[in-house]
Amino acid sequence: MRAKQPIGMFDSGIGGLTVLKAIMERMPDENVVYFGDTARLPYGTKSRETVTRFSEEITRFLMRRNIKLLVVACNTASAYALAHIRSIVDIPVVGVIEPGARAAAAATRNRKVGVIGTRATIESGAYLEAIQRLDPAIRVFSTACPLFVPLVEEGWLDGDITCEVARRYLGHLVTCGVDALILGCTHYPLIKKVIGDVMGRGTALIDSADETAATVENVLRESGLASGGPGGPRCAVFVSDLHLDLRLQVERFLGFEVPRISLVDSKFEEVEAGV
Ligand code: DGL
Repeated sequence: MRAKQPIGMFDSGIGGLTVLKAIMERMPDENVVYFGDTARLPYGTKSRETVTRFSEEITRFLMRRNIKLLVVACNTASAYALAHIRSIVDIPVVGVIEPGARAAAAATRNRKVGVIGTRATIESGAYLEAIQRLDPAIRVFSTACPLFVPLVEEGWLDGDITCEVARRYLGHLVTCGVDALILGCTHYPLIKKVIGDVMGRGTALIDSADETAATVENVLRESGLASGGPGGPRCAVFVSDLHLDLRLQVERFLGFEVPRISLVDSKFEEVEAGV
């Protein structure tokens, strides 16, 4: 019975749809309920306390929708709030940090790994800890790239300005000679090509979305929770603010249209208006 329940996911906004997309591609029989906190994004500039409080509120909302597993698709929320979330629910919780760290540790040959993310993710040191737990000999070089988020949201996925910003942020990592780079933010997979061009062919780009989807598949299989057959509608998307560009942005991240986006108010009650 539990196997037929949906997977719950959340992100500070709609960037986590990159993780939703990877999950749907890998596990087409799973139902997913996604929550994007579009009213309160960005999380990457906020404190640990605030991000943890927001994450708890969303987790409780998703738990009321009877989810069987929770994916914290936001790197910042994973970095700050994962342990707290695990302490308040009795279902498996998958964050994006550990899967990304594992993939980077497996990919690096020279044991120099780069990590890029929001200021909060980098300052938390969560990737550094996760990588060094796996292999203390790996040297980790981290850089916050805050301008990448608004560039992606604006749809500037390539072009001179995005390339120049990437060169500024990543120059240090190129000099350090990292041969694996973790794209430690929901938005960065969309500018993978620009990042790859700056880093050069010798650097493996680790996309947390793919790695997280693989982890979710393993956890579901090992805990006997995999759906094993077609379920109901494949994904339901909830947001805390329905702004003008939302549909366009959702399509940009997901690569296809979702039938309906539902609005949730500040008390986490579903509001009628959907687009
Ligand atoms: N979702 C956030 C992350 O992956 C990026 C956007 C934000 O700062 O809220 O860290």
